[in-house]
Amino acid sequence: MTGSQAKAYAALLAWYDAMGVDEAIGDAPVDRFAIVPETMPLKRPARAPLARPGQPPVAPAPARPAPEAAPPSPTSLEAAGTLGELEALVAQFEGCALKRTAKNLCFSRGSADARIMLIGEAPGRDEDIQGKPFVGRAGKLLDRMLATIGLDETQVYITNTIYWRPPGNRTPTPQEFGACAPFLSRQIELLAPDVLVLLGGAAAKHILGVTEGIMRLRGKWKIYKNADRDIPTLATLHPAYLLRSPDAKRYAWRDLLMLKTRLEETQK
Ligand code: URA
Repeated sequence: MTGSQAKAYAALLAWYDAMGVDEAIGDAPVDRFAIVPETMPLKRPARAPLARPGQPPVAPAPARPAPEAAPPSPTSLEAAGTLGELEALVAQFEGCALKRTAKNLCFSRGSADARIMLIGEAPGRDEDIQGKPFVGRAGKLLDRMLATIGLDETQVYITNTIYWRPPGNRTPTPQEFGACAPFLSRQIELLAPDVLVLLGGAAAKHILGVTEGIMRLRGKWKIYKNADRDIPTLATLHPAYLLRSPDAKRYAWRDLLMLKTRLEETQK
């Protein structure tokens, strides 16, 4: 391989990495529908029930998809009286398919006594490896943003709407959001923060139950109802978006100042 070929391959790999493609799957595409496993006997097609004389043939019932484990009910989650117990329940939960492809559960980082809870979308590659939210590039920027208003990891609690990394960093599906939602709700209840900060459009839409884009939602205090509490909630831009669009940092800065003012007011 020549030096320029090596450079071209390195550039291609760096580009894949930046796009979130970080798993080698194979050199050539595989048409899995065309493959018939040799060792498995072919399943005999279901026979249509016999028609009675004079009646049209009856079509066989369609195959039902295998059921996913049901999401936990809010009452079953009441058994978790601490964030540690809740994390243990999430670790045992088999109802979110993302668990099968993720390396680690990514439950939280920060302080269990924090007044401020930040919620992002879903773990990325670095988070999946380390088993903690916001530890990659976006997380480093988030930490720097919080530091500008005098906050560090001992004063905030950080999590995501989803506890396992979606393959290739795709947006979580409504089913994946739904599977993790009861746990997230209990997580908020157990932490009982004074304020919630939603990082990015996916978290803001999912938690506030609205369809507007993040540019409309950000920079306004809203109320999130959790158990019997009304929690002041502020949506802002996702740090990963700010890395791609540094011009938008001015909006995030305004949101941070709103958060700072609110914290100062409620501390008095
Ligand atoms: N983006 C998120 O939304 N969450 C993380 O934990 C990391 C990146």
